Amino acid sequence: SELHFQFYDKVDSTNEKCKEMCRNDECKNWVVVANAQSRGRGRYGRTWESQAKNIYISFSIKNPFVNDIVTLNFYLGVMLYRAVIHSFPEIEKNLTLKWPNDLYFNDKKLAGILIENVDNELRWIVVGMGINVYASANEIPDIATSLAIEGVREESMRTKVISCLLEEVYTRTTVEDYRELFWKYSGKTQNGVYSYTKGNKIYRGVLQCLHDDGSVTICDVEGQKIHIVV
Ligand code: BTN
Repeated sequence: SELHFQFYDKVDSTNEKCKEMCRNDECKNWVVVANAQSRGRGRYGRTWESQAKNIYISFSIKNPFVNDIVTLNFYLGVMLYRAVIHSFPEIEKNLTLKWPNDLYFNDKKLAGILIENVDNELRWIVVGMGINVYASANEIPDIATSLAIEGVREESMRTKVISCLLEEVYTRTTVEDYRELFWKYSGKTQNGVYSYTKGNKIYRGVLQCLHDDGSVTICDVEGQKIHIVV
C-alpha cells in the first residue's frame, strides 16, 4: 500500500503529527520525518533530546498483532535492529536489542521506540523511533551514543537507515516468530549487564529468559533472579 510522507524541519513531536494526520485524514500509512523536535517524547513520559542531526521518525501501521502488545514490541524492535544492521553491517557485533525494545551499541542507547494508539482498539498505531545518528557526545545524554560517536562515517546515513526501515516495515509479507528473533538479537549480550527499571527501582543484571507474556527474568551480580514486567 501507498505511503504518505510529511517532512518537517522542526515539529513538536513527530508522533503527535502522525496521530493528527491519522485522525484527520482517515487511517493511512503516514510517515512523518523531522530534522528536529521541540517536544520529543520518550517512554514513561520522559523527554527525548531532539536536536537536529538525528533521526526522528513516526509512522502509522495497521497493527499486525491486535490485542498482543508483547509481540508488537518485539516485532518493532526487530525491525529497528534490522534496519540498522542492513545499513551498517560492520557494527552488527556491537548491536543488541535490549528489552523491551531499545537498541544498544555496546552499553549505550542508540535508539528507542515509542508506540501509541490512534484508536481505542489498537487497530492502527503510531510508532515513533528516535535513532541517534550524527549527534556528538556533548549533544546527547551520557547513557546514550550515536553512530557518528561510534565511528560510523558515511554519506547520507539518515536516508539509508530510513529507507531500510520503511522497507522492513512496509514490504514484509512473511510471518515470523518475532520472539525468537528478538531473543536472537538480544542474546549477544548474555554477558552484558544492563539496568532494568521495575516500578521506581533499578536492577542491574543479565537477561535470562523472555517469557510469553512479555516479561523477563534477569540475573543480578549476586546470582539472584528478578522477574520484571513492562
Ligand atoms: C524511548 O526510548 O523512550 C522512546 C523514544 C522515542 C523517541 C521518538 S523520536 C520520534 C518520535 N517522536 C517523539 O516525540 N518520540 C518518538
